[in-house]
Amino acid sequence: MTLFDVQAVRDQFPALNQQVHGRPLVYLDNAATSQKPRAVLDVQEAYYTQDNANVHRGIHELSRRATEAYEDARIKVARWIKAADSAELVWTRGTTEAINLVAMGWGLDNISEGDEIVLTEMEHHSNLVPWHLLSRRTGAVLRYIDLDDQGRLILDNLDELLTERTKLVACGHVSNALGTINPVERIIEAAHAVGALVLIDGAQGIVHLPVDVQALGADFYCFSGHKMCGPTGIGALWARRSILEAMEPWQGGGEMIRFVHKDHSTWAEVPHKFEAGTPNIAGAVAMGAAVDFLSDLGMEAIAAHERAIMEYALARVGEIAGIRVFGPESLDERSAVLSFLLGDAHPHDISTILDSEGIAVRAGHHCAQLVMKRYGVAATARASFYLYNTTEDVDRFVDGLGIVKGIFG
Ligand code: ALA
Repeated sequence: MTLFDVQAVRDQFPALNQQVHGRPLVYLDNAATSQKPRAVLDVQEAYYTQDNANVHRGIHELSRRATEAYEDARIKVARWIKAADSAELVWTRGTTEAINLVAMGWGLDNISEGDEIVLTEMEHHSNLVPWHLLSRRTGAVLRYIDLDDQGRLILDNLDELLTERTKLVACGHVSNALGTINPVERIIEAAHAVGALVLIDGAQGIVHLPVDVQALGADFYCFSGHKMCGPTGIGALWARRSILEAMEPWQGGGEMIRFVHKDHSTWAEVPHKFEAGTPNIAGAVAMGAAVDFLSDLGMEAIAAHERAIMEYALARVGEIAGIRVFGPESLDERSAVLSFLLGDAHPHDISTILDSEGIAVRAGHHCAQLVMKRYGVAATARASFYLYNTTEDVDRFVDGLGIVKGIFG
């Protein structure tokens, strides 16, 4: 059941209103990045045309306005994820930087040789490579939660996998390659029972699900603005204040200091001690506008709309002979990501043919090579839906797959 007028929503996204290769655009690459509504674009432009100045540095009017807009956006995003305190929200370039911040800012001081970090086979490379780097520097051992044939985490042996050696579990909320919604609450509870901390890669989760970081109970939650109607180059790390306060800064520079002496420096309070250098002020302000936009629609309504689109899409592609769909069968366990193969057609060919029909999908390993390896494929094609997609978009997509079948049989 859609609780908002999808056409009225679509009209707010200028990029959706264009022809590609002579056909109206059908944008189904939302797991890579979302399009931006006019409200977000306007706020970003207004910031640059009226308020642009550096933050926390000047005592002139523009600097005051820029600082207020930047900090108001922090409060807005922190409230949206139900953080206890806006100081728990550190601005980063995105999810990747947030995870790297934890790996270097927390991991180097808290992980030692022989300690274990538990990951999953479905992680995006952004939630694998920082732990590879950390493990190289510390001698930490990486262990993995495996996937079943439907792309779900196998949690039966969690009690054996998590031991007193486990210091951290790092797990995606929603898989970008399979669409699986992970039972993160169960993993968090099991990890905490052995004294491990939990990092949730929320890049795909926060887009589709209402997130309450306090109820979730994780220790770190990382996410990006650009997949949720905000600009690129901005995202956030949320962590409990006590954890952030105990962490060393991971980058040094302006803004993150209290005093600088010849041989040492002291740090600003959280979250500023993690925000060295001039931040992406316009990005933060626009991400705040994206939160306003999503809040107005309501995350429950967005989730219900996407579920309806996904149900329709699964039913329609289910009619196509030779299609192999990856990910959980149950709509309760999957988000709006449809990864698939079609007969012998190479995913890149599928994507190229769909593109010639004005339909944007992604093809490749989706920065999840372990997932591809698990299912014995080099790549998949992936359609990913968002709040502005319609059943007509799905129909165009399915018609496009008909053309692929016509060419490849
Ligand atoms: N992580 C993004 C995707 O899945 C880029 O496409």
